[in-house]
Amino acid sequence: MQHILDAITAGDTSSEDFANLDLPESYRAAFVRKDEVDMFEGIPSKEKDPRKSLHVDQVDMPELGPGEALVAVMASAINYNTVWTSIFEPVSTFGFLERYGRQSELTKRHDLPYHVVGSDLAGVVLRTGPGVTKWKPGQEVVAHCLSVELEDPDGHDDTMLDPQQRIWGFETNFGGLADVALVKANQLMPKPDHLTWEEAASPGLVNCTAYRQLVSKNGGAMKQGDNVLIWGASGGLGGFATQYALNGGATPVCVVSNDEKAAIARSMGAELIINRSEEGYQFWKDEHTQDPREWKRFGSRIRELTGGEDIDIVFEHPGRETFGASVYVTRKGGTITTCASTSGYMHEYDNRYLWMNLKKIISSHFANYRESWEANRLVAKGKIHPTLSRSYALEDVGQASLDVHHNKHQGKVGVLCLAPEEGMGVRNAEMREEHLPAINRFRGV
Ligand SMILES: NC(=O)c1ccc[n+]([C@@H]2O[C@H](COP(=O)([O-])OP(=O)(O)OC[C@H]3O[C@@H](n4cnc5c(N)ncnc54)[C@H](OP(=O)(O)O)[C@@H]3O)[C@@H](O)[C@H]2O)c1
Repeated sequence: MQHILDAITAGDTSSEDFANLDLPESYRAAFVRKDEVDMFEGIPSKEKDPRKSLHVDQVDMPELGPGEALVAVMASAINYNTVWTSIFEPVSTFGFLERYGRQSELTKRHDLPYHVVGSDLAGVVLRTGPGVTKWKPGQEVVAHCLSVELEDPDGHDDTMLDPQQRIWGFETNFGGLADVALVKANQLMPKPDHLTWEEAASPGLVNCTAYRQLVSKNGGAMKQGDNVLIWGASGGLGGFATQYALNGGATPVCVVSNDEKAAIARSMGAELIINRSEEGYQFWKDEHTQDPREWKRFGSRIRELTGGEDIDIVFEHPGRETFGASVYVTRKGGTITTCASTSGYMHEYDNRYLWMNLKKIISSHFANYRESWEANRLVAKGKIHPTLSRSYALEDVGQASLDVHHNKHQGKVGVLCLAPEEGMGVRNAEMREEHLPAINRFRGV
């Protein structure tokens, strides 16, 4: 792969030269193995260790199909979906690959005894398949993770509704935690040129998700003046939701679990912050019983901070542990938007608070191409910033995933793939200089 890295770092390699670069027959990738899906059986979730299940080794270069692109990956990032894949919860992702493999001759490629994971990348287009006209070898890109077929009518108003909608690198093979990735060309977007490779790779999945969930009319349709409750405000999704709330003239009420995370939320410009560990909320008395008094105590704290107002939109993802409280603290007519259930997917809430107060629960999942493009455009314009706190080498992808699994991280954790070191890939130094303090907020620099 050295000749590909040399072509990328040379700076003057033409598109034609990129198209003529020899592609190796195999490349380095992070993957889980089908013959190991039972390896953690009987072990509690938190003790399942991604360092044991994520392997880094050579895999075969996939065939390039129509409408697809092969991308040299300079950097990627850890998403929670890689944690789920690596601990084989709630289900093994090999089931997704088997189903996808049954769809056509071409998709059979995805059904392999290994699953190359990762749903973010920043890199350079190496090859494009038949029918691709918008992208060329040599272009510097990031990729969003929405894979669609669009052969059914259902997805044509909103591509997230395509019956064949999949998350690349989670429900498909050949993901971004590798030196090469296979994507559909309509996943590609321009790399923000003031960012390093690892910074550019890191917003992708969570930025697009937060944009749809909070800003888009398909999600919370946030407006100026809204009070937005953001769980995990310095985490992957929350770090972007907080920025969107502030940019859009809303007031984020940021929930975090320690002082360091509170300081990060403050550094983004948030003023109303709740340290959930310090306050010691116990929304569940035991595994089966919630404590509405704790919802009320949480609501009182919110009113104390907002000057008596309730929450217009709750940005939900912790799930079972917090959902009852989230429904309770939403104002009459307000909205709970949910995209996940990290602490458990069997939610319980008191429906009286929902229907009597005309509250809405809106489900949200990733983002369509248009929403992803808008989210990336805001990063490219320096209006939304990456939240990268640290980066690991691809060999250490297991440790990087463990950090996220154990909530030891801030914002996003990057992974260097072909990029030999951090700090490479900046094409607009002047713009970078202008935004450097914001770009570095999560690094504690
Ligand atoms: N559907 C989609 O398209 C989509 C997209 C992205 C992510 N997700 C899912 O969303 C979830 C979060 O992803 P992420 O990237 O933001 O993860 P993350 O980086 O780990 O951040 C989540 C934050 O939530 C807070 N949190 C975790 N457990 C909590 C609990 N029990 N109660 C209250 N707060 C809790 C933590 O912050 P504090 O400790 O500071 O409170 C944590 O930092 C994951 O389950 C992921 O799979 C779904």
